[in-house]
Amino acid sequence: MTAIVIENLGRSFVTTTGTIRRTQKTVTALDNVSLTVEPGELFGLLGPNGAGKTTLTRILSTVLLPSSGRAEVLGLDVVRDAKQLRPRIGMVYGGERGLYWRLSGRDNIQYFADLYLVPPEVSRKRIPELLELVGLKDRAEERVEGYSRGMKQRLHIARGLINDPDVLFLDEPTIGLDPIAARELRTVIADLHNAGKTIFLTSHYMYEVDALCQRVAVVNKGQIVMMDTPAALKQLVANLEVVEVECLSVSSEAINRLRDHPRVEAVHVDNRDQVQVLQIQAPGGVKYVPEFLHLLDGANIQKVVTRQPTLEDAYVKLLGKDAISV
Ligand SMILES: Nc1ncnc2c1ncn2[C@@H]1O[C@H](COP(=O)(O)OP(=O)(O)OP(=O)(O)O)[C@@H](O)[C@H]1O
Ligand SMILES: [Mg+2]
Repeated sequence: MTAIVIENLGRSFVTTTGTIRRTQKTVTALDNVSLTVEPGELFGLLGPNGAGKTTLTRILSTVLLPSSGRAEVLGLDVVRDAKQLRPRIGMVYGGERGLYWRLSGRDNIQYFADLYLVPPEVSRKRIPELLELVGLKDRAEERVEGYSRGMKQRLHIARGLINDPDVLFLDEPTIGLDPIAARELRTVIADLHNAGKTIFLTSHYMYEVDALCQRVAVVNKGQIVMMDTPAALKQLVANLEVVEVECLSVSSEAINRLRDHPRVEAVHVDNRDQVQVLQIQAPGGVKYVPEFLHLLDGANIQKVVTRQPTLEDAYVKLLGKDAISV
């Protein structure tokens, strides 16, 4: 049986703006989304802010109703069969909400075990196993308020697994973690995948999706732009070279001049601390470096390097200007 089936799923929200003259606006968060996930697959959903990732995850985990279309998880309809489905799935949202800060890590898990009606003889065995899995065994008796962000995230994962779900939804599980904590968490996710769980993961981080996921869907403005393996996605940019220019003050006119260069396929601007890093995607990029620098006349250039394309470049190419909001 297919683990997740999504057919023509849509969701819109009506929002009201203004205090005196109130106007209503409809936001389409998901627009005709269809996809399937096989049992045991680790599937990634990638997209910029507001693309609809959380909306989709919430619908699949039965906490939000769709406006149109349908979705099934483990053969159960997420609307009609929500009650039967809920005990068989787990969901973890990034961030710090949803834990009881004054309770210990262990008591938090115990609380959710009781909430999910996990039999005491099962939870007695499962709680220590989960604390071990997420590397919190030695800190389990401490109050959560003293936990670091990474520890809280790992506790969230343990919490999401308390009912031994067949399908796990992870919405940006590593957001806000330092690189080492994020790597530890990815190891936990990979272990869960190896143990046979079906995992539906959303992320902003290409590296994460590349390292973990078997297939990935890129979403933008509520629609799937592309769905394939990370390797196939990278093929999109296989013949590109990327020229990275680090500069201090680049004008939007200069960036537009670059975008108009006939060999340039995309220019992505990263703001890092004080500097701006331009990622210029162009086939045979290295040959054109002098021309690019000429077009950037006036920018205070610090460094220029060329490199091979990554999954991130494929993403930038797919999304064009929309990728900039990431
Ligand atoms: N409860 C809500 N009321 C009104 N609009 C909403 C609501 N929830 C989501 N939206 C809108 O739906 C769109 C998709 O939002 P969603 O949170 O699913 O995006 P996302 O891909 O998870 O973004 P992010 O990367 O920032 O988490 C956005 O335009 C958002 O403003
Ligand atoms: Mg989100």
